[in-house]
Amino acid sequence: MKMNIRPRRLRTGAYLRKMVRETRMDKSSLIYPMFIKEGAGLEEEIPTMPGQYRYSIDRMPYALEKLQKAGVGSVMFFGIPEHKDACGSGAYAEDGIVQKAFREAKSKFPDLYCIGDICMCEYTSHGHCGILNGEYVDNDKTLDYLAKIALSQVQAGADMVAPSDMMDGRVGAIRSMLDANGFLETPIMSYAVKYASAFYGPFRDAAGSAPAFGDRKSYQMDFHNSREAIKEALLDVEEGADIIMVKPAMSYLDVLAKVKEEIHLPVAAYSVSGEYAMIKGAASLGYVDEASIICETAVSAYRAGVDMYLTYFAPEIAAFMDEGRIG
Ligand code: PBG
Repeated sequence: MKMNIRPRRLRTGAYLRKMVRETRMDKSSLIYPMFIKEGAGLEEEIPTMPGQYRYSIDRMPYALEKLQKAGVGSVMFFGIPEHKDACGSGAYAEDGIVQKAFREAKSKFPDLYCIGDICMCEYTSHGHCGILNGEYVDNDKTLDYLAKIALSQVQAGADMVAPSDMMDGRVGAIRSMLDANGFLETPIMSYAVKYASAFYGPFRDAAGSAPAFGDRKSYQMDFHNSREAIKEALLDVEEGADIIMVKPAMSYLDVLAKVKEEIHLPVAAYSVSGEYAMIKGAASLGYVDEASIICETAVSAYRAGVDMYLTYFAPEIAAFMDEGRIG
């Protein structure tokens, strides 16, 4: 049959298919989130996230070593403190759990790139991401705390900070605090576009950070909105963000593509705990093939435009890249 254009021509062999790929990935774009808990000898598997653990500081280096061997050079730490209080004081304590994690990680693995999640919900007794005024999270009061948390993490060795609280003005507040203390070149990766999402469920089990009452809808975004993502991102650009994050990833690739188009900063996506749990759960039941689903979901984020990808599957994805399965 006479046909000038045959799309199948470029799919005839593996080498050619790889040659004409539109999406390329690299291990340096992967960031692995980790839970660090007070205590000793702990490597507790998280029930809703099989294969993910809460590590005590003494066990953490073994996990970091494995990660580096897999070729993943960047981590984000989440701290699980022993005690929580109304103002989340464990989040900015000099000997807080996450501060200890940064010191230990940077002393044993100086080349590991360490990012700090800046939020209060793992440290407050009420589980909200800020300081309460009655049952409402007080935006402006919270800003002083977030700035203090960021400074304490950077002083402990964090290479970059990532505010995930969704208070208005927090990027500016953190930037001023870091600058005033001489940390002019510590980048801020803003969770600028963070939706109020049920996909965070397993994380809240892992970190014990579910709100004691109400929900996070008065600060995290409504998932019906996508133009609002641009408003949030532009505000953070003005306040001095260096990287813009969209979270969750999988159900928000439309938002990600739009942010990539309109915002001229590197764009990150966080494939969150619920995305991980769904893949693990379905695969363990034999409903889908785990490796293939991990590859396909990861590539879809990069195809949508992501420059950096935060994922609990980072070591697996790195291995699939080495095998030439994706990348
Ligand atoms: C802290 C924070 C959360 C996540 C990252 N930072 C939880 C939340 O907002 O409730 C979620 C990450 C995940 O689900 O993997 N605010």
